[in-house]
Amino acid sequence: MKTDLLQMVDNGGCSAKLSPRQLEEFLKYLPLPDDPNILVDIDTHDDAGVYRVNDDLALVFTTDFFPPVCSDPYEFGQIAAANSISDVYAMGGDPVIALNLMMFPASKLPIETLAEILKGGSDMATEAGLRIIGGHTIDDFPPKYGLAVVGYVHPQRIITNAGARPGDSLILTKPVGTGIILAGQKLGLASSEDVSAAKSIMKQLNRSGADIMKKNNIKGATDITGYGLAGHALKMARASHVTINLNMKEVPLIGNTYRLADEGCIPGASFRNLDFAEADTFFGPEMDYNLKMIAFDAQTSGGLLICAPSGTERKIVNELKNAGLTSSSIIGYVTEFNKQYLHLKDA
Ligand code: CO
Ligand code: CO
Ligand code: CO
Repeated sequence: MKTDLLQMVDNGGCSAKLSPRQLEEFLKYLPLPDDPNILVDIDTHDDAGVYRVNDDLALVFTTDFFPPVCSDPYEFGQIAAANSISDVYAMGGDPVIALNLMMFPASKLPIETLAEILKGGSDMATEAGLRIIGGHTIDDFPPKYGLAVVGYVHPQRIITNAGARPGDSLILTKPVGTGIILAGQKLGLASSEDVSAAKSIMKQLNRSGADIMKKNNIKGATDITGYGLAGHALKMARASHVTINLNMKEVPLIGNTYRLADEGCIPGASFRNLDFAEADTFFGPEMDYNLKMIAFDAQTSGGLLICAPSGTERKIVNELKNAGLTSSSIIGYVTEFNKQYLHLKDA
């Protein structure tokens, strides 16, 4: 019988991250090195660190790894790699080289399963034009996989969490719901169509979205992963000292995400994300509970949230749709800071 990786985990994919509150607590103890060549560090909670090599070149450096988010080892490899590379794309970089990070229970699973995970990662890296030049493997249960990725970016063209400006429109490039659909799959409530739709969204590289951001000189963006759409929007609002307004009615959803949320398929990570963000969030009057929880649903390998200067948003959405990101939508806007960093509405 084929190995079913999903049976081995409670929280797969990015929902296995430590809560954002725990992250903030321990980051206080991590001293920040002082070096003028460090252009981006953990101070702004950006997707990756950026280090200047010279006036024309900086390195974008990032890592992500997590336990299985699907049953099939090859697909798990593809999704984990697409998710790891995404943080380079979110910052306007071009991925160049990577290392495999593999934790694998060699006494519990056949070694072919490991090979399939690596093959999935390698094929996704090839699709991204990224070369995997090594890695590290330790014995561990359940398996975990991801990449450490180095990309190139021009020091003047870095896209960050701190780049949101009042007047910008917010564009989301992929529909949301991967955490809810995964929970629905475990409870036997999600259809196979929903599960395969979620997997194809997670396998989609953010490469074309990044190309379109660069072409349009975008300054602010992030990718949507474990802290959910609202959690990552909040991190961007804080780093930019602005208020981000999201209209959950405009947010595209994968398949039956809403129905599954209504049936209670809401993973624990969503509640942790909500708990972290609540004090900084204004909720619209009588906000729909399911849409509120969808806003905080932990995404794995989610889309880009792009700050498009006023007047450019429709053109950029058209370019994204023409590039195959057919769910791309304008889902909100940025204003001067107004009492709370995040305003979440459903009307
Ligand atoms: Co990220
Ligand atoms: Co990341
Ligand atoms: Co080693």
